[in-house]
Amino acid sequence: MTNGYELLVEPTPTECAETAAGLIIEALAGSSTPVLGVATGLTPLPTYAELTARSFDVSHLQLVLLDEYIGLPADSEASFRAAVRRLLAEPLGLPPERVHAPPHEGAPTPETCAQFEAHLGALGGIDLQLLGIGRNGHIGFNEPGSALDSRTRVVELTAETIEDNAAPFAAARFVPRRACTQGIATILGARQLLLLATGRHKAEILRTALLGPVTPDVPASAIRLHPRAVVIADRAAAHLLRTGDDDVRARGR
Ligand code: PGA
Repeated sequence: MTNGYELLVEPTPTECAETAAGLIIEALAGSSTPVLGVATGLTPLPTYAELTARSFDVSHLQLVLLDEYIGLPADSEASFRAAVRRLLAEPLGLPPERVHAPPHEGAPTPETCAQFEAHLGALGGIDLQLLGIGRNGHIGFNEPGSALDSRTRVVELTAETIEDNAAPFAAARFVPRRACTQGIATILGARQLLLLATGRHKAEILRTALLGPVTPDVPASAIRLHPRAVVIADRAAAHLLRTGDDDVRARGR
């Protein structure tokens, strides 16, 4: 049984970012232990630019990454920690210790993964988890086939994901083959989910995730199991959603 979701369709990625930043700031303002779950990739970049341009209380803000590569040197600029520090933590004036990531050094074990989950609990839980959607429907590095009850764990990346993530590396062959990701059940543990999708290349998978069955084959479909999931899409990504469907509560402009 699904809970549905709220779909907001905006004309362009810029308006998506403005709406997303507003929702994020509202969610964090309601928390005495504000924790923002952050995503990497291209989609959230305008949202991060918008957030860093706004003024809101970051005095207690903690950032938690969805996933991280395994095996990169600690000072690699291609790591997701480095990206989040550069794009969000430093502009907001947050020290590096307020950026938390799944275990990624050496060989993460079920024990270190469980410690990460316990650490999330100790932070007070994630108030809002920002998500992108991969062309294959992944969220975090939960590739198709990931169990809906999966938790933080080590995963092998698919060839498609390696190719899609090659930009910060000299070539796709330098992209690590393994990563540690929050599981689907971990993601569903956040108090609110905000999935962002922009561009025509996301239209097909967005339709599958939102209107097809909820299935491990399309990890993003799992957001429909969450009681508070919001999807913000630009018109290009939303163009295959018949927003008049009962299944889709659109509040587009
Ligand atoms: P993208 O990646 O934002 O670069 O399209 C999305 C994802 O892989 O989650």
